[in-house]
Amino acid sequence: MADAVGLTPIPATRVENACASGAAALRQGLLAIASGMYDAVLVGGVEKMTNLPTADVTDTLAAAADGPFEISAGFTFPGFYAAIATAYMARYGMKPEHLMNVAIKNHDNGALNPNAQFGVTIQKWMEGRIASAIKKGKPAPNWATIWDFLHDDSANPMVAYPLRLFDCSPITDGAAALLLVAEERGREFTDHPLYVIGSAQASDVSLHDRADLTTLPAAKLASSQAYEMAGVTAKDIRIAEVHDCFTIAEVAASEDIGFFAPGEGYRVAENGLAARHGAKPINTSGGLKSKGHPVGASGVAQVVEIWKQMRGEAGERQVKGDIPLALTHNVGATGSTCVVHIFERRD
Ligand code: COA
Repeated sequence: MADAVGLTPIPATRVENACASGAAALRQGLLAIASGMYDAVLVGGVEKMTNLPTADVTDTLAAAADGPFEISAGFTFPGFYAAIATAYMARYGMKPEHLMNVAIKNHDNGALNPNAQFGVTIQKWMEGRIASAIKKGKPAPNWATIWDFLHDDSANPMVAYPLRLFDCSPITDGAAALLLVAEERGREFTDHPLYVIGSAQASDVSLHDRADLTTLPAAKLASSQAYEMAGVTAKDIRIAEVHDCFTIAEVAASEDIGFFAPGEGYRVAENGLAARHGAKPINTSGGLKSKGHPVGASGVAQVVEIWKQMRGEAGERQVKGDIPLALTHNVGATGSTCVVHIFERRD
């Protein structure tokens, strides 16, 4: 990579941490600068996934999970998050339709993101399917609303109950990059630098060893440590990009980062609190669901969205008003790793 971008002979290191590789690389870059050893670090995230069929991608992703006790028992990532969703439904009374609201919100945001893989609202997606059927001389599907579309097994098949196709992030190719520099050098590169004021990472046991599936303890711990380091609370954070590899993951994340109380996160896509113009916007980029989930790049791409939003450069999807503080939450596997960062704009 250093060769391809003309950066040899400076040191180059590959950081591998499953779906949290991007944020883990950002954290390693920050630590390198904080140590005083370096004053500029380029952090890249990249993944190429679409060159393999889905079954092979599923096998490759499984390498990030517990092989002997979970993968050998038949779990896939959609299966893991389906287990989290069913546990959450049993405890809090959530219905599959609540999860559909998360997908609807994220597609609404992604439709305004020119870099999104599926940058289209679910309404437009449905209309496109109807138009395509008519064009091919086939009977037009009988969908009056997106709810008909999302409940139709042919349009939105079950992947792992209760998660359907539109509850899953896709298989994606993508890349993103961030330039980190020591605080005193920031203004050499831009008039409006952002400051990383909180960085934390935590790990956890495999899913089958956890007492409670409705929350990711590593995410809670990393969030609380990042808040403590930054000297702020969840109330102070204006927007967040969270790891919605599946719709239920966004619900759990919104609670684990302290935006909403346990058992409340599933209601917020419906009541608009997490929408672009809500009180606590989540995943204005479209999230992993609509923007795409090139696993090693996702944690870096989350920060690119925060960078644009905080500097007022997010175009049509710009959140209204000042964004002095923002947060990113990037999960590896089913929460065996979580990395949280907090960003501040000072001017
Ligand atoms: N949401 C909505 N539509 C999707 C989609 C998604 N996530 N993924 C694919 N599609 C659409 C495609 O555009 C295609 O539509 P078309 O027929 O109109 O062209 C259709 O579904 C079939 O696409 P295909 O790629 O063949 O889907 P698939 O059934 O092979 O794979 C999943 C779908 C959900 C199983 C796959 O995307 C997946 O495994 N996602 C999860 C990835 C993952 O686990 N990441 C790590 C998380 S921790």
